Amino acid sequence: MTKRRPLMAANWKMHKTVSEMEDYLQRFLPLVSDVTDRDIVLAPSFVCLMKMAEILAGSNVDACAQNMFHEEQGAYTGEVSPLMLRDVGVKRVILGHSERRHIFQEDGQTINKKVLSAVRHGLSPIYCIGETLDERESGKTSEVLKSQVEEGLKGLSKDDFSMVAVAYEPVWAIGTGKTASTDQIQEAHALVRQEISQLAGEDIAQNLRILYGGSVKPDNVGQIMALDDVDGALVGGASLVPESFTKIVRFEID
Ligand code: PGA
Repeated sequence: MTKRRPLMAANWKMHKTVSEMEDYLQRFLPLVSDVTDRDIVLAPSFVCLMKMAEILAGSNVDACAQNMFHEEQGAYTGEVSPLMLRDVGVKRVILGHSERRHIFQEDGQTINKKVLSAVRHGLSPIYCIGETLDERESGKTSEVLKSQVEEGLKGLSKDDFSMVAVAYEPVWAIGTGKTASTDQIQEAHALVRQEISQLAGEDIAQNLRILYGGSVKPDNVGQIMALDDVDGALVGGASLVPESFTKIVRFEID
């Protein structure tokens, strides 16, 4: 297992109202309150964030945004800024999720601006990358991952890298029940680490956490977390029920 501190993150996507979030926390927090050897993160919708951050203050669980815009303020209807996130006590943000890339057409340059802005405002990004099924089947996985790492993390200083985690999420494994094989996961994670080492140096690459995402569940998390270059998980569907996400957070290596 990795020597890096595991980061177990829930991405609720467009699920849960404020009252459903409150019910979840009431069940979830007691189930994980004794966990001290891993970071636990919940990413609800924007409307839940303020209340969630208030409830989580002083606990071992962090609130995380699912997205943000790169500017601090201005005429950007419908957007939320890094200052607004910091103001409500949020310290992390998911950026470049494949649903943002594919449904909302965010390109690499847009996501890079968000990563740089997040870091500048003291928000730790979980920067998501991953190939589509077409790209994998046409043998382009490494090329795609390398260019996403380069493009998204361009312009970060070496110090900035210490705030960043990368999530490898093969698009074809998200929400499909199809998990990548352990060989595919380890290969992709090793490649990402190698690429980061070229960008920022070996020390930084060795310390940076690389999460896997794509149909992580209580019954496969142990074998995924056992891989050398896997340092955590970004979990969608299986994070929506507190007991299920608890099992993921409390994974034991298979
Ligand atoms: P999933 O989603 O666990 O439902 O596959 C993962 C993600 O999109 O982050």
